[in-house]
Amino acid sequence: MKKMKALQRRTHTFTYIVKWVAIIYILTYIVCLPFRETKERADETSYKLLQAYIESGLLGTPPIRHRSCSNGDVFLLIMVPSAVSNFEQRDAIRRTWGNVSTTKPTVLLKFVLGKSKDTVHQSLAKTENSIYNDILFEEILETYENLSQKSIALLRWASTNCERVRYLLKIDDDMFLNLPRLLNELKVHPKTNSISGCKVTGASPFRFAFSKWKISRSEYKNDYYPDYIAGTAYLISGDIISNLYRATRNVPYFIFEDVYITGLCRKHIGAVALENKGFNCGYRNRGPCGNNFRYQITGHHYTPREIKRMWRELQDRWSNCRLVDHYFIYKLVDLFKYMFL
Ligand SMILES: *[C@@H]1O[C@H](CO)[C@@H](O)[C@H](O)[C@H]1NC(C)=O
Ligand SMILES: *[C@@H]1O[C@H](CO)[C@@H](O)[C@H](O)[C@H]1NC(C)=O
Repeated sequence: MKKMKALQRRTHTFTYIVKWVAIIYILTYIVCLPFRETKERADETSYKLLQAYIESGLLGTPPIRHRSCSNGDVFLLIMVPSAVSNFEQRDAIRRTWGNVSTTKPTVLLKFVLGKSKDTVHQSLAKTENSIYNDILFEEILETYENLSQKSIALLRWASTNCERVRYLLKIDDDMFLNLPRLLNELKVHPKTNSISGCKVTGASPFRFAFSKWKISRSEYKNDYYPDYIAGTAYLISGDIISNLYRATRNVPYFIFEDVYITGLCRKHIGAVALENKGFNCGYRNRGPCGNNFRYQITGHHYTPREIKRMWRELQDRWSNCRLVDHYFIYKLVDLFKYMFL
């Protein structure tokens, strides 16, 4: 009898808690509704910013001296595939790790844009380029399936316009990069015949019928992918750029950009996939704080605002991480944003 009562009480407490959790969840959801940011709205803000810049003449800073790759004075070429509407990301990069105006040895930065369905954004990007002169426009519709095409295009550009460059870094526009650290490492440990970054070994294609990432046997017949380097950031040694580009004309097209370029095409030319511990490719696996990247090279998925702050913090060798940048706290905040915003 007593046991029954205790059990009843426990069930009661349990339903009580579930009820309140549900109520709090729904209330928070409703309160957060006006702050929800859709993808389109984010794009709009990004381009409103560009328009405001153009009007206020802020963009009118003199463009970086035009650098040419062909005479062999560029050490590192950084190519950043970016969506036409991601002006805010490009702006953050130009002000932080992508400001290569005084970097030694010489670094060249190029964004690789495709074709957007939005003609207004497309023409604004043209204006953006007339000022910065750092954008490469490719006739590729910006869809997920076309990502490998963008990488092929950037290899083509690098191999025809920059054939004597020592290194090519392909890096996404949501990445944090500790460029001084990378340059220093390349000076100490030069690389040839290789692609380096976060090495992925023994991955296999998804075969589930309902997966968004499903790869059928006709698309890829083997059970495993060759070793490849995660696509968020990888470094190609200059000696293989042309060969790698030529390989893309022989190796059948594959939808996953990193598996294709750094796995299949790399293997085709007999180059090596190298692990570099300084490349972090896990989703925000370090708090958005400059100090966390003092001995690291890349970090994956940070907002333009975070990148600017992290870069500032990185320049100040006495800076410390804020409390909110500690692992559990920012992970909790991220989870909250993911659920409600
Ligand atoms: C880049 O750095 C130079 C020199 O450090 C500075 O004068 C310039 O304003 C910077 N450019 C941007 C876009 O922040
Ligand atoms: C890009 O993707 C679209 C649809 O996914 C496709 O129609 C188009 O042919 C692809 N290629 C280029 C070069 O745009």
